[in-house]
Parts: sequence; C-alpha cells; structure tokens
Amino acid sequence: MHPRFEQISYEDAGTGPAVVLLHGFPFSSSIFQGLIERLSGKYRTIAPDFPGAGSTSALLHPEDASMELLAELVKVILDQEKVEQCVLVGHSMGGYVAMAFADAYADRMKGLCLLHSTAYEDSEEKRQARVRSIQFIQTHGSELFLKQMVPGLFASHYVHAHPDEVNQIVKQSQRIPAEMLIAYYRAMMKRPDRSYLLRTLRIPIAFVFGKEDTSLLLDQALSMISLPGDSTVHVLEQTGHMSMIEHPRLARLLDYFIDYCEASLIG
Ligand code: MLT
Repeated sequence: MHPRFEQISYEDAGTGPAVVLLHGFPFSSSIFQGLIERLSGKYRTIAPDFPGAGSTSALLHPEDASMELLAELVKVILDQEKVEQCVLVGHSMGGYVAMAFADAYADRMKGLCLLHSTAYEDSEEKRQARVRSIQFIQTHGSELFLKQMVPGLFASHYVHAHPDEVNQIVKQSQRIPAEMLIAYYRAMMKRPDRSYLLRTLRIPIAFVFGKEDTSLLLDQALSMISLPGDSTVHVLEQTGHMSMIEHPRLARLLDYFIDYCEASLIG
C-alpha cells in the first residue's frame, strides 16, 4: 500500500462487476449510503472516504491535495482489492477525480458517470467564488460556512420538505477539518480542463444533471454532452446538486448504466 494511503477507509459491499462511487465536496462516502444499499445487491460497490472525510483522517499535507493524488488513491484501492476494471461514478468533486483517474488509468475503466460534475476547469467566476469561500472559512470558521453552503446544494423545495435530513447532512460535513476544506477548494481551482478526454475515451459515458442545480448550471453542463461518442444524459426534474439524496430513482439509472457498460464489453 502506498505509505500515504495506509489508513484510507472505504465501503466495500456486495459482489459482481465493480462500481466505484467517488464523493463530492464537502461530503464522505456516507452520502452514498442509500445508493450503496441498492447497488450492492447486484454489484461490488466500493466508496472511498477522501482524506479528512468520513473515517479517513486528514493524512495529506493540505498543500499536497490535488485531483491527481485522489485519483492515485482510487488506483491504490483498486489494486489492493484486485479490481481490474470498474465503472466510475463521480459526484461533483468526485467527478473531477474520476476525470484525473481517466487521464492516467483509462484502461481500468468500463464506464464513467459524471454525477452533477464537469470535465471543464473552473471558470474565472467560479475561482473567485472559491477564493471568497476560503476567506469566509478563515474568518468565520467552517461550521458556519457549511451551515450556509450545504443546504444551497439541494433544490429549495427539498430543504423545506426535509429539514432534518438536510441538517443531518450539514452536521456530517462539519466533521471535515477546515484546513482540508480549504485544501480541496485550492485543489479544485488548480485542476485542468479535461474535456478532451470525453472525446477520446472509448467507454460509455453518462451525465446526470439537476434542473435546479445552482452549483453546476444546466446550460453550461449541457455543452459537454456532444463530446463523447457513446453517451447518455439524464436531466432530473426538481433536483439540485444532490440526486443521490433528492432523487429516489437515481439507483435505477445507475443500475441501467452499469449494466449497459457491462454489455458494451461483451457486445
Ligand atoms: C461538490 O459537490 O463536490 C462541489 O460542489 C464541487 C465544486 O465546488 O466544484
């Protein structure tokens, strides 16, 4: 095991073809709990906690955080678990990690799902928003930041209808150390454009977008969909950035996609 990644924790449930779920910012593998329960009935479902999240301690020097290093961590887990190939599902920041993984290890992938995520780099506007978020965390602390930020990732009607659940998710996110939140913001700002990979990857690609996502705006997200050869696009009604929580049928969509990836290998 790579010395840096000795204490990486990950869910590993079920047997069958492997699917790896990569969580977004500022979450952990627990955000996929419902999906893991559903998918693991049919697939080997692996979901790591990135450093500082869930049961994985911060491990990294914050300066070292990068999407490439997190992709390396995914590779270490696949090697350790003797998983030759998998379908990678990346939620938002997890999607940026999936793109970094695809850049280095495309031969380990059977399919890619960008779940509320993009292959493009940050726009200047997004970078400036991240700088403001970092300043807010440094001035007011991460608890207040997350209390304000996390509910905004859901469609507003969902927050009104499920305040306790959203509050619980806010509390889970507040366990991540502030320096790791800042480190991930800086790492996301530095990530390169990887949209060219969508053109060159020879695997099925699925995009899942929420119509009410204010973090990844639909019109920007849709500009990616003509790039890959073989792609599926799901635009979900009444859904923000958090379909694994907001949209009960996401597991079905993913099940269909994973099946399709498996069939593409045979066909
Ligand atoms: C995430 O959910 O991982 C974040 O919204 C990603 C981002 O800030 O770009």
